[in-house]
Amino acid sequence: MRDIHIPVIRVHAYGASSQLTLEEIPSPVPGPGEVLINIVASGVNPIDWKLREGFQQKPLPFIPGVEAAGVVIAVGEGVTDKKPGQEVYGAVDGSYAACAVAPAAQLFPKPAHLSFEEAAAAGGGKTAWGALFEVGQLVKGQRVLIHAGAGGVGSFAVQLAFNAGAYVIATASAENIDFVTSLGAAEVIDYKVAPFETQIALVDLVLDTVGGDTLERSYQLVKPGGVLVCLVGMPSAEKAAAAGIRAVWGGTKTIHAMREVAKLLEKGLITPFVRKVFAPLSQAAAAQNYSQQGGKGRGKIVLRIEE
Ligand SMILES: NC(=O)c1ccc[n+]([C@@H]2O[C@H](COP(=O)([O-])OP(=O)(O)OC[C@H]3O[C@@H](n4cnc5c(N)ncnc54)[C@H](OP(=O)(O)O)[C@@H]3O)[C@@H](O)[C@H]2O)c1
Repeated sequence: MRDIHIPVIRVHAYGASSQLTLEEIPSPVPGPGEVLINIVASGVNPIDWKLREGFQQKPLPFIPGVEAAGVVIAVGEGVTDKKPGQEVYGAVDGSYAACAVAPAAQLFPKPAHLSFEEAAAAGGGKTAWGALFEVGQLVKGQRVLIHAGAGGVGSFAVQLAFNAGAYVIATASAENIDFVTSLGAAEVIDYKVAPFETQIALVDLVLDTVGGDTLERSYQLVKPGGVLVCLVGMPSAEKAAAAGIRAVWGGTKTIHAMREVAKLLEKGLITPFVRKVFAPLSQAAAAQNYSQQGGKGRGKIVLRIEE
């Protein structure tokens, strides 16, 4: 398989989207417990351009992308639950590529009712699940505020919290209010018309997917004993103690969360939304720029590998 060369996007130096280079490299080979997939579509996440800019020192060169949907080409030793020809999706490191390997445990059968683009947009589900239930310990009947209810993570968080029987409040722009309401939010607050903290009564849990000033203004909205979960940065322990709340970073990614989300997707109880599709692979820079500049739409940006 190493004789076969595949197109990929690689980053050789941290910087602007012009650092995304289309090149050919030998195809990877699945090791024990791994699966080689032919990628049809890759999710495009904010972490992709943050890593490209050097947010964390990821060894260079690297192939961006953390999630994909595609077709199994080959399986490594010990893999019994995936077969060549099977359509799958899940967490795939280096997904801006024609092919990639991923641990079999992180890949799930693609539900027949989802397109490859939709399945490649599902990764926000596991993030939302982990933040709400594993970190935030959300239970039925609680009031939850979800910032950016129309985003790649927020659109899943609204659906998951609603399905769990929570009273869901979300923030969104005016053009996304109907959309976020349709996902199960009882109240959708237009964060652009007035400060959100003047429009919302206290909640048990805030899930912040925005950070910065939004995080700073969210401590005051949590009931004493409640929890503020942030996915963008580490909340302040001092401010949490002063407010009598728990405030934590919520970026857990467990196999349990992936499995729970896969079950709900298969049953059609939650749905991924595609903000915009870019194609082919050479459009990676345009896709990342759209994400970085806050391009309009709902849900996740997707990069289709072929035209
Ligand atoms: N730690 C982790 O494990 C982890 C995992 C996934 C994501 N994240 C982080 O979480 C953040 C969100 O990720 P994502 O994929 O959901 O991003 P995204 O889809 O790019 O988010 C875009 C959304 O943000 C909304 N938005 C922008 N500014 C807002 C504001 N001030 N208040 C409320 N909504 C606002 C926009 O809503 P409108 O169009 O309605 O204005 C848009 O729908 C990113 O910073 C990402 O890096 C962390």
